[in-house]
Amino acid sequence: MTTAPVSPLSLPRFPRDFLWGVSTSAAQTEGAVAEDGRGRSVWDVFAAEAGRIKDGSDARVATDHYHRYREDVGLLKELGAGAYRFSVAWPRVVPDGDGPVNAAGLDFYDRLVDALLAAGIAPVPTLFHWDTPQALEERGGWLVRETAERFAAYADVVAERLGDRVEHWITLNEPAEVTLLGYGLGQHAPGRQLLFEALPAAHHQLLGHGLAVQALRAHGATNIGIANSHGPTWRASASEADTEAADLYDLLLNRLFAEPVLLGRYPDEELAALLPGPVAEDLKVISQPLDRYGINYYQPTRVGAPGADGAGAADFGGIRLPPELPFAPREIEGYPRTDFGWPVVPQALTELLVTFRERYGDRLPPVVITENGCSYEGIEDGERIAFLDGHLRALHAAMESGVDVRGYFVWSLTDNFEWAEGYARRFGLVHVDYATLARTPKASYHWLRDVLREQARR
Ligand code: BGC
Repeated sequence: MTTAPVSPLSLPRFPRDFLWGVSTSAAQTEGAVAEDGRGRSVWDVFAAEAGRIKDGSDARVATDHYHRYREDVGLLKELGAGAYRFSVAWPRVVPDGDGPVNAAGLDFYDRLVDALLAAGIAPVPTLFHWDTPQALEERGGWLVRETAERFAAYADVVAERLGDRVEHWITLNEPAEVTLLGYGLGQHAPGRQLLFEALPAAHHQLLGHGLAVQALRAHGATNIGIANSHGPTWRASASEADTEAADLYDLLLNRLFAEPVLLGRYPDEELAALLPGPVAEDLKVISQPLDRYGINYYQPTRVGAPGADGAGAADFGGIRLPPELPFAPREIEGYPRTDFGWPVVPQALTELLVTFRERYGDRLPPVVITENGCSYEGIEDGERIAFLDGHLRALHAAMESGVDVRGYFVWSLTDNFEWAEGYARRFGLVHVDYATLARTPKASYHWLRDVLREQARR
C-alpha cells in the first residue's frame, strides 16, 4: 500500500525549543551481548528458549549498534534530531545486577554520549528498558523488593559517570509491559505467567523509579522523567459489563502506573492491599516531583467483558490474553492498520493527552512523547509518513487545547529486534539489512529530515 505524499511544509508550527528526538533501546539494537564484560540479561535467556521468539531469532547481534554507534549518530545528525533516547543496559554496567561495576561497559555509554554531544544531539538515557540482569531475576527479579534497591545503586553508578554531560534522564520504560507481558502473561522475558500475582512487579518497578529519581537528584539532575505506555481505552458498548471491563483495563494499563507517580496513591484500594511492603511509605518515594512525564503512545484499545464467544482469547496487537481475564479485546474497525495489525488512530493521541490533563491537572508535569511509531515493510514507506504526519497534527491539536508538551520521539531510528516478534516487525526510519547490517534511510527518514529543517527555519 502506498499513500499520497504529505508535504513536510504543511505541518503546523511547533515551539522553537520543542525537543525533536528518536528513541531506541539497548536490548533491541546493541548486540555484542558477550563483549567487554557484559552480564546476561533476562532477554538473552528468554530468547534462547525454544518457541519464545516468533521467528526463532535472538538479539546477540541485533543491529550491532554497539560497534556501529558512530554510523547511527551520523544518521541522527543528518536527520537533524535534537535528541537521542537510548537505554543503558544494566547488565553491561553491573553484570550481575549487584556487586562489581564493569568499567568497560560504562565506557561504551561514555563514548556514545560524547559522540552525540559532538554532533549537537542531546543524549537522553533510559536506565531500564526491560533487560534485567539474569542474576537478579534468579533472586526473584521485580517480584522482590531488593531489585528496586539494586536498581537505585546502578542508577547512582550511571549518574556518577555520565551526569556531567547528560541533562535529560528517563528512569524506566513501560513498567506496565514488563508487569503484564513479562510476569503476568509470560509472552516477554522473564516468561512468568502469574496473572494478577504479577502485581508486585509493578510496585517494585515504581519503587525502583522513585529510588532512582533520588539517586539522580543526588547527582544534580534537573530533568528527570519516566516513560509510561498509555492509550485511551474505549469500551466495547455502553453496557454495564463492558463499561466495567473497560474501566478495569484502563485502571491496570494507565492509572496503575500514572497515579502512584503523579498523585502518590494507587487508583484502587483493593488492589493496593495486594501489594507487598510498606506501600504508603513507598508511595512517598514513588511520587517525588518529576520534571517531565514521558508517554509512549501507539494505539487505543477497545475492551469489553469476556464473551461466551471466546473473545477473551483473541489476538490483541500480537498479544494473546487468556480467557479467564475479566476483560477482552475487541476489534477497532474503520481505521487503517500497520503491518503489525495495529489500528492507526492519531486522534486518540489528542484524546489521551487531553484526558491526562483533565484527570491530573497541575500534577501532570510537562509531557514528552517518548515513543510513537509504526511497523511497516519497505523503504518507500509512505504509510509511515502518513502515520507520523497524522500523529504530529494530533499532538499539535492537544497542545493547542492547552496540554503542555515539550518533545516528541519517534520509535525508532533503525529497524531492530522487536522482542517476541523477532526481526519481522520493522519500526525504523532507517532500514537494516540483517544479512549485512547495512543501513538505508527510508522515505520517512527523508521526510522527517525535511520536517525538522522546515521547523527550524520558521
Ligand atoms: C517499547 C519498544 C517497542 C515498541 C514497539 C514499546 O512498547 O518500548 O521497545 O519496540 O513499543 O512495539
